[in-house]
Amino acid sequence: MNRGDILELLRGGDKQLFARAAAARDAAIGPAIYLRGLIEYSNICSKDCLYCGIRKSSISGKYTLESKQILRAVKYAINNNYGSIVLQGGENYAPAHIDKIEHIVREISKTGLGITLSLGEQSPETYRRWFEAGASRYLLRIEASDRALYEKIHPYDDSYDRRLKALRDLREAGYQVGTGVMIGVPFQTVENLANDLIFMREMDIDMCGMGPYIVAENTPLAAYSALLEPEEMRLEMTLRMIAILRLMMPDINIAATTALQAIDPDGRLRAIDAGANVVMPNLTPTDAKKAYTLYKNKPMELDMRILERNVQYGERGDSAHFSARKSSCGSENNL
Ligand code: 5AD
Repeated sequence: MNRGDILELLRGGDKQLFARAAAARDAAIGPAIYLRGLIEYSNICSKDCLYCGIRKSSISGKYTLESKQILRAVKYAINNNYGSIVLQGGENYAPAHIDKIEHIVREISKTGLGITLSLGEQSPETYRRWFEAGASRYLLRIEASDRALYEKIHPYDDSYDRRLKALRDLREAGYQVGTGVMIGVPFQTVENLANDLIFMREMDIDMCGMGPYIVAENTPLAAYSALLEPEEMRLEMTLRMIAILRLMMPDINIAATTALQAIDPDGRLRAIDAGANVVMPNLTPTDAKKAYTLYKNKPMELDMRILERNVQYGERGDSAHFSARKSSCGSENNL
């Protein structure tokens, strides 16, 4: 699929796009949906991204879960036959934080659950330590693969190059690597979105999480809301992005993200019907879940209808793309 083909699909040129993507998923990896219990570890972040509700300068209450709260969520995941958990939180380089994550990952890995981390940019050594402790997947969205757009919404020195380096370091450390972008950010063009998909293919990613941009109150980007497409259009574009990526990379894991459900109660189900195969029910204790306000109207409840889909209980649901790359020796590593 070339850039022209992708643009045509992004512009709505194929009424069968979602059905074709779901069929491509079923043919490549089957209709199975995998669950990951999401644990939002902390909203303390050293980054000040212009769109994010838990940015460094947000003044709302900061929290960090205690180990016993995390282990309680892990127990819930086990009791409900989840195969994997995701530990997500703000970016923090404090040695005590890095040690604590290493320790908790080691504890969780004893249970046999698959562990995904989503804790931002870290040093190669930190990535290595967490991997050795038992984490096997890592999510680090590129957010916007266009350098100029990236730098506009992340105005720090060398921010884009550091992001790319972190993605390479993750691959190097041995993780299944996930990335993704927000869709409908002010200043983003449909050409940017086409290039985002090409970026993911060139990076040969294993997993992807993409969601619509949703205004977060008291953030600098909220001042640009007049530039936004209507929410329903941002949702539709996210579904198209998921479906096109599924056609481009049939055997990767693609998440039906929570932000979709912030716009439409059916959002995550619609993503599954457009080719997604992973859902991350939120297992964070309620008070912390409320304080982890990435954006407005974050859904607090799982849409139970998801659990009626083809959920594979008890399975880790590793990326088939990763396994295929591992077993085809001598293959090029593009990261
Ligand atoms: N709207 C949508 N997604 C957001 N994220 C952060 N802020 C917002 C927002 N306002 C996403 C980022 C990040 C993920 C954890 O949450 O893409 O990678």
